[in-house]
Formats: sequence, structure tokens, C-alpha cells
Amino acid sequence: MRIGLLGFGVVGRGVYDIVASKPDIEVVKVCCLEEVSLPDAVVTKDFNDILTDDTIDTVVEAMGGVHPAYEFVRAAMEAGKHIVTSNKALVASCYDELLPLAKEKGLKFRCTAAVGGGIGWLSEVERSRRVQTIYQVGGIMNGTCNYILDNMTRLGLDYNDVLKEAQALGYAEANPSTDVDGIDTWHKVILSSNIAFGVSLNRDQVPVAGISAISAADVENFKAHGYVCKLISTGKHLDGKYSVYVHPTLVKSNALEANVPMNYNLITLVGDTSGRMSFYGQGAGRYPTAYNVVQDLVDLLEGRGFYSTYGESVDVDNSEALTWYVRGSWPGAADETWGDAVIVKNVSVDEMHAWRKENPGVFIAAIAE
Ligand SMILES: NC(=O)c1ccc[n+]([C@@H]2O[C@H](COP(=O)([O-])OP(=O)(O)OC[C@H]3O[C@@H](n4cnc5c(N)ncnc54)[C@H](OP(=O)(O)O)[C@@H]3O)[C@@H](O)[C@H]2O)c1
Repeated sequence: MRIGLLGFGVVGRGVYDIVASKPDIEVVKVCCLEEVSLPDAVVTKDFNDILTDDTIDTVVEAMGGVHPAYEFVRAAMEAGKHIVTSNKALVASCYDELLPLAKEKGLKFRCTAAVGGGIGWLSEVERSRRVQTIYQVGGIMNGTCNYILDNMTRLGLDYNDVLKEAQALGYAEANPSTDVDGIDTWHKVILSSNIAFGVSLNRDQVPVAGISAISAADVENFKAHGYVCKLISTGKHLDGKYSVYVHPTLVKSNALEANVPMNYNLITLVGDTSGRMSFYGQGAGRYPTAYNVVQDLVDLLEGRGFYSTYGESVDVDNSEALTWYVRGSWPGAADETWGDAVIVKNVSVDEMHAWRKENPGVFIAAIAE
């Protein structure tokens, strides 16, 4: 297998290092913007050097972002090259274009590292689907948010102080919005649901609320009532309906999710045969993530293509009614008061997210049953 590697950052460099010990996989060219010198591969700033090299059969995309990753991956596929990517923003956003194209061209397309970093989550979803119907996926999918919430819970610190510390330690980006506003988790639950249920979700109908409005007083409130807050994604396929959403969620302090520390992930599937299965591990990092990229390359060598057949576009129905913790001027009746927040019951996911959108600065969290 002869590889053109796009991106030589955290993940790309890790892939290069691991592949060095695999005789049947060779990184032939590396495309990146910074100056690097490599003994075994040609380094270029021009993607066309990879595109026009007919000896390259597989492109590994580890650049990130939707553009120009989408244009590069699409062009590589048009040129007949297989794709392995760690880029969840790309796959979740362009699922409807990339998957049918892979099918049309008879190409292999894998993206295991896009969800859960080093956890073999998507590849296990694939195996699981062979023998059962999966009806729920989701969980803690973002290490940055978990790091912030865990430190706020354990140390009683303010959101902004923990965020600064996470940035200093490299757990959070200088611009943390993609993580703390839940967008990263949103990409991951959309991709996981598409693969688990064999559909293409209407992304615009999947609501997301992040953690950036949480305060130390909220966390004290949760503790006083025996709860811990986590950013949790949910994708369900029940009774012919798809309900998919991302928001902070209060779990009982003895729940598995409540005890996930630092920047770890805990991702769960529920199937009609297996019941609940949860996957725990490092959701990011150079070698954990590159490990799953290389696993995909080995899968390609063994002839395994995409996880599930591409399914038609489906609508999302988030009419499910939940119980919520709300800090902000909730217009309806409250069922309980917790400090300066209220508990409201029987409010649908759609209604709560729509209200939050109109009232930036409020904090909402669903309370898990
Ligand atoms: N880091 C993780 O732990 C992790 C875990 C799971 C998934 N992922 C995903 O993996 C992907 C890569 O993440 P990363 O952390 O490795 O990112 P990164 O460290 O920022 O590396 C990105 C690399 O791509 C290069 N690049 C960006 N735009 C380019 C362009 N137009 N042409 C050529 N090269 C370009 C960058 O060059 P410059 O440095 O010169 O800009 C850099 O070498 C992302 O989609 C991310 O979401 C990452």
C-alpha cells in the first residue's frame, strides 16, 4: 500500500511513525504547510503532487476542517484513491457526498479515528451491526469538555479558570468553541448514528447545547442533589423514530459516566442482543488516534471498505419530553427550585433547545432518569 499523507500535525506525524514499522504500508508523499524534512517520504506543499502520482493508491487525510479537506478528498476519490481520515467535521458534514461517491467508484473509505480517537468505537459499531439491531448510541465523546467538567466537579473551580488551565496543558484549543459549544460532539454523534442505524440524518434537525455557560454555583447545586454534569450525546432509533441531540446532562454520582475522569471518553451502544456495551479510553492524542488510522489501513489491506451501506436521508424527531435543570428566566411553571435555578419536567428536547437559542447565556442540562 502506497500512501499520500495529508497533514503532518498531531495525527499525521503519529501515522508516519507507526507505519514506519509496517513493511506492507509505505508513506510515499506528505503534504503539509510547515517545513519538515523526512528521510523516507517526499514532502510537498502542493496536493497535486499526491493527486497526480499514480503509484499512490491510498490517501490518509489528517488535516482537519471541512475545506479544503473535502475538495482534496473528493479529488483523490475521483482519481481512484482509497481514503482513510480522522476528520469528523469532514465526514459528518459531507456524508451524503463522500459515501455515495465511494460506492460509485468502488473505493474504500474508513474513518475510525474520527470518533473516540484511540477507542475502536466505529469499528465495533460495524461488527455489532452484523448480528444485531443497534437502537442507541452516544455518551461522553469530547475529552476537553470532560476535563473541564471533571475539574470543576472535583476542585470546585470556575469554568474560566479550568478552561485556561486546559489551554495551558494543551487539552483545549486557543479558540475552544468547537469543543465547549458541543460542535465536536455533534459531529461525532451524527456520524455514529449514521453508521449504527444505516441512515443519513438530517443534520440541521440535530440540536446542540454546550457547556460554556456553566458556573461553579451550578456544579455545587448538582452536588447537593447527588448529580454530576457531563456533556452527553444521544442517538436513538426507537419505534421507527430517530431522536438525536447533544446537551449537558446530570447523571447520578454513582453512574459510570459520572466517574469518567480527566480527558477520557465513555461511549455506549445499546443493541437488541448485547444490551448495553460501553467503550472507555483516550478520545484523543497522537498515538492513540494514529493507532486507529493505521488499523483502518490494515482493514483496507484486508479488503474491508466502509462500515455500513450508505442509507437514505432521514428526519430527526426530538419531541421526546425530558426533565431539565434551567438557570435563566424560564417562562413556564417550575416543578422545583435548586438555588437560583429551576427544575422543569415534561419539556421536549426541541422546545428546550429552541428556548435556549433565543436566550443566550442561560444554562440548561437534562436530568438523566
Ligand atoms: N489531535 C487529536 O488527538 C485528534 C483525535 C481524533 C481526531 N482528530 C482529527 O484529526 C484531524 C487532524 O488533527 P490534528 O490534531 O493532527 O491537527 P493539527 O495538529 O492541526 O495538524 C493538521 C496538519 O494539517 C496541515 N494542513 C492544514 N491545512 C492544510 C492544507 N491546506 N494543505 C496541507 N496541509 C494542511 C497542517 O499544517 P500547518 O501546521 O502548517 O497548518 C498540519 O500539519 C482533525 O480532523 C482532528 O479533528 C484529532
